[in-house]
Amino acid sequence: MREIQKNEMMHRPIVDERVLQFMRTGQKPLTGYMREIQKEAQEEEIPVIPEETVVFLRFLFSQIQIREVLEIGAAIGFSSALMDQLMHQEGHVTTIDRFDYMIKKAKKNYEKYQLTDRITLLEGQAVDILPTLPSAHYDFLFMDSAKAKYIEFLPQCLRLVKTGGCIMIDDIFQGGTVFDPEETIRRGTRKIHRRLKELLEVVNEVEGLTSCVLPLGDGVMLITKEKDQVILPELRD
Ligand SMILES: C[S@@+](CC[C@H](N)C(=O)[O-])C[C@H]1O[C@@H](n2cnc3c(N)ncnc32)[C@H](O)[C@@H]1O
Repeated sequence: MREIQKNEMMHRPIVDERVLQFMRTGQKPLTGYMREIQKEAQEEEIPVIPEETVVFLRFLFSQIQIREVLEIGAAIGFSSALMDQLMHQEGHVTTIDRFDYMIKKAKKNYEKYQLTDRITLLEGQAVDILPTLPSAHYDFLFMDSAKAKYIEFLPQCLRLVKTGGCIMIDDIFQGGTVFDPEETIRRGTRKIHRRLKELLEVVNEVEGLTSCVLPLGDGVMLITKEKDQVILPELRD
């Protein structure tokens, strides 16, 4: 097994270290341009999906027909390039980012690896861009941006994804501290905790959604939209 590199390590692993070691280094590694983009992210310590999530996506995309992907949070274009590589030849990935530094790097990667026809990068705040996108258009929607915003983006995401489509949300556990009492959480991160907890509860309670959580990276949630109309409760605060 390859040794886990320092910047590949999670600060707060949510699974046993030996399991993590296997998930990160004992499964089929990336090759070619995907390995190049992954190396760039590791060298610059840019947070992109970890190896175990790459492996999971590779498996998932081999099992279900995905043609239209929407991502919130492009960073340097790693996960968008991966999803493009894994999906149908006629498919398309649309991704969103608001940070100029990341946008420049993502564009450079899409150009370098001839992905500009296959991946569209929308620049700006997701809250402004999501309402402009077509309803029931996407087979797979990947939320990988500011964690406190996930619950706020959920109504738009449910509008955008097709019935039968899937929403995947990254980094939902805060190293497990999302389950700790609020008074033990640092004040600056309490809102993130509250919002993530609310997300976990709402998704489980609402009619018309099937979901599961998986211990990949800092935890992912997968949601299937089972009905055309899903009614969500008002945000708590
Ligand atoms: C964890 S990184 C994404 C990593 C990427 N999905 C990957 O694995 O290759 C999160 C990105 O989301 C972007 N982001 C965060 N909040 C956002 C928002 N509200 N609107 C648009 N982009 C946002 C950040 O600029 C950052 O580049």
